[in-house]
Amino acid sequence: MYTELDGAVVVVTGGSRGIGARTARAFADEGAKVAVLGRDGAALEKVAAETGGLGLVADVTDLAAIEEARGLIEDELGPVGVLCAFAGGGIARPGPTAAMSEQEWRSVVDGNLTATFLTLKGFLPGMQERRAGSIVTMSSSAGRLPTNLPGGGGREMGNRWGAPVAYEAAKAGVQALTRHVAAEAGPDGVRANCLAPATIRTERTARHMPPEVQDAVAASHPLGRLGEPADVAGAALFLASAQASWLTGLTVDVAGGRVML
Ligand SMILES: NC(=O)c1ccc[n+]([C@@H]2O[C@H](COP(=O)([O-])OP(=O)(O)OC[C@H]3O[C@@H](n4cnc5c(N)ncnc54)[C@H](OP(=O)(O)O)[C@@H]3O)[C@@H](O)[C@H]2O)c1
Repeated sequence: MYTELDGAVVVVTGGSRGIGARTARAFADEGAKVAVLGRDGAALEKVAAETGGLGLVADVTDLAAIEEARGLIEDELGPVGVLCAFAGGGIARPGPTAAMSEQEWRSVVDGNLTATFLTLKGFLPGMQERRAGSIVTMSSSAGRLPTNLPGGGGREMGNRWGAPVAYEAAKAGVQALTRHVAAEAGPDGVRANCLAPATIRTERTARHMPPEVQDAVAASHPLGRLGEPADVAGAALFLASAQASWLTGLTVDVAGGRVML
């Protein structure tokens, strides 16, 4: 569909499973040379075998690990043209803001916002030097609207607290980080856009949401269903492609119409 992606070198962090793995497959289907990063070596190998690309163990909260992976990718596949910084992690329980521990806060901000910053720090300079590149980062509808508002998603999930506040703040931060990078690197020929999905039916979300909760959440979207990893992959492909060459600094709500800004 996007012929210019044929042969492009694409990196997907968080590519070992879920949205990232589906996105890696979508780029490979376009003929791209794909490297997936994550921490689970066996899962990465499986995706690498499916995509004919590289699977590299790298904790994206560790800049040295990112730099090492970048070196291996450049040696094996060539200079990186597309970066999908999708990895998101950290552990915190839903609950009142003041009940969140400092450790939970730091874990989620580190696992989402700092991880995205470090990934950009690793890959952006090379793109700027080559005066070419497209970056797609991963926010969430939780970074658009508080999930503890009525209709914000928390109540549909049977949880009046919504998502942990650190997750909302970190994902909103990813949007600001992306816009800043878009303004800074645009003159160097590098674009940066952000995806903000609502609930996507990955293995993890399906495991944690009983069918009746999935139905309630699906009904809160104008399009009447949950998102699929392929919905996010399709948006990532478009933003990375030449079809989006005049688009930068956007946050795209892959949200079935539940978030409209
Ligand atoms: N699913 C949704 O409903 C939804 C909605 C909005 C936004 N998102 C965002 O989309 C992204 C992917 O979500 P998902 O549902 O596909 O999640 P998932 O199935 O839990 O996958 C998370 C991915 O991130 C990787 N990862 C996490 N921490 C990492 C670290 N420190 N270093 C390297 N890799 C790390 C994991 O790799 P390993 O397991 O190999 O460590 C895995 O590949 C996340 O940023 C998430 O916040 C998801």
